Amino acid sequence: MKQKIEDLLSKIESLTAGKLQEVEEIRVKLLGKKGEITALFDEFRNVPAEQKREFGQKLNVLKTKAAEKIEELRQKVEEMGGSDAPSFDCTKPGDKYDLGTRHPISVTREEIISIFSKFGYAVAEGPEIEDDWHVFGALNFPPEHPARDMQDTFFISAGGDNPILLRTHTSSVQVRSMERMPLPIRIVCPGRVFRNEAISARAHCIFHQVEGLYIDKNVSFADLKQAVLLFAREMFGEETQIRLRPSYFPFTEPSAEVDVSCNICKGKGCNICKGTGWLEIMGCGMVDPNVLEASGIDSKEYSGFAFGMGVERIAMLKWQVKDLRHYFENDVRFLREFETVI
Ligand code: DAH
Repeated sequence: MKQKIEDLLSKIESLTAGKLQEVEEIRVKLLGKKGEITALFDEFRNVPAEQKREFGQKLNVLKTKAAEKIEELRQKVEEMGGSDAPSFDCTKPGDKYDLGTRHPISVTREEIISIFSKFGYAVAEGPEIEDDWHVFGALNFPPEHPARDMQDTFFISAGGDNPILLRTHTSSVQVRSMERMPLPIRIVCPGRVFRNEAISARAHCIFHQVEGLYIDKNVSFADLKQAVLLFAREMFGEETQIRLRPSYFPFTEPSAEVDVSCNICKGKGCNICKGTGWLEIMGCGMVDPNVLEASGIDSKEYSGFAFGMGVERIAMLKWQVKDLRHYFENDVRFLREFETVI
């Protein structure tokens, strides 16, 4: 025991510390519950009675020396720097903060809106959680139309004749605007839409659309063609050509699908346009009189056109993104590619 006390005494003499945390570690090691000095006090109980006085004194000296040394180290550390914080080097270059950038889908949506706002279109928005009437009924979807099918639509409450659901297109905002707004109406309706589809490179269950609607007296199909052509040239370049193919939508008659000349190969044919020279960008048509009447607009006095496009699709064509899923994964390596574009 005597030896142990002497060893500890000389060890204490040579202790050093550079941080408050180290001082604390020393204290715990020596005087803590399981510390070396505490252990000696335990051992002291077994010392024969005649030696108790001598060892008792020695142990007390050891304990006091340890406490003094710890206090001395603590003071030194505090004088040196005060705390454990690393010393501040004012000659070091500053930390670089990465600024976030706008998401390519937001950028594309804003670009679409700003093009149409130049033509006098206002922005209208509506709820993502909708009822059957605004998504289908008022848009002339017959009750048994496949788009209402459980496979396409996320229903929230299936009961009754006007179930609540997640909107599958932003055409619902057309209906809400026709119900509420004074005529003439000239709006674009951007928003998120939801479809019960398997996620793949070309489809997602959540995506974005911009719907357009123009209702006035004497609106004709020629007006629609002109609006679409001007938009296509602003979005994809001055040289862009458009092509309309007859199509079908319940809410427009006649209906058409719009293609733009491929902006990659300039119409010659490449793998993006699958050799056709054309890329599909939107659906459109003259608003069906049934749709006008369902929202209380006199279809004998007024006519209008509507169009709808997918924001992801426009962005994919503009920047040649081949997989839709990139837009939702928010991998910074992908998002950073748009820093310069934005
Ligand atoms: N709502 C259609 C869709 O989601 C897109 C669309 C097509 C909107 C033609 C229109 C239109 O306004 O006239 O597929």
